Amino acid sequence: MQLLHIDSSVLGPNSASRALSAEIAARQVALHPGMTVIHRDLATDAALHLSSAHLAAWQGGPIEDALLGADLAKGGAYLEELLTSDIVVIGAPMYNFSIPSQLKAWIDRVVVAGKTFRYGANGAEGLLKHKKVFIASSRGNVYTPGSAAAALEHHESYLTGVLSFIGLTDVTIVRAEGLAFGPEAKEAAMVKARANIAAMAA
Ligand SMILES: Cc1cc2nc3c(=O)[nH]c(=O)nc-3n(C[C@H](O)[C@H](O)[C@H](O)COP(=O)(O)O)c2cc1C
Repeated sequence: MQLLHIDSSVLGPNSASRALSAEIAARQVALHPGMTVIHRDLATDAALHLSSAHLAAWQGGPIEDALLGADLAKGGAYLEELLTSDIVVIGAPMYNFSIPSQLKAWIDRVVVAGKTFRYGANGAEGLLKHKKVFIASSRGNVYTPGSAAAALEHHESYLTGVLSFIGLTDVTIVRAEGLAFGPEAKEAAMVKARANIAAMAA
């Protein structure tokens, strides 16, 4: 088995989502001994934004720029890692009501027609099957339905939406929110999230 562990927080050792994603990955390895782990730190090594040069290369055009060539290879590796993994753990902080742009750049490389989704007579079909996804979600405010900020929740809803589009529907969210409400609130949110991780079964 293979686990793909992705982090996208820019807060390094102070990151809540990194702490939780690492604990989820460790819990999954404990549940599935011998599993291979691939770690992608998108905050230190992100793919470039897609450009017209990327699209031209995908259509068979020449790749004359070494930077573009390396970035296309990185995107290809992202896709291969996702295709070959059984479990995906995504550390996803909320930045400006959605996911970090580094994580969006990863999504732009793995949502690929013919590889992870296709359109047919009946509309869109996700092509990924039999994978479990765990999202370590962290955010400063609270976005539960009915809360004042609920309408600004484009974070988990976006991420689960795009994952579902490519067939990844078995998604477990471990959430720590209200992290900006003071040290006690942060501690309580982290304790609750950690309890959810500890309770995970195979
Ligand atoms: C650049 C930036 C933008 C943020 N935007 C939001 C936001 O829109 N809504 C929110 O609730 N929290 C926001 N926060 C707070 C983070 O979601 C919170 O600090 C969370 O712990 C970040 O996860 P991390 O610790 O893994 O980086 C933002 C933080 C940063 C650094």
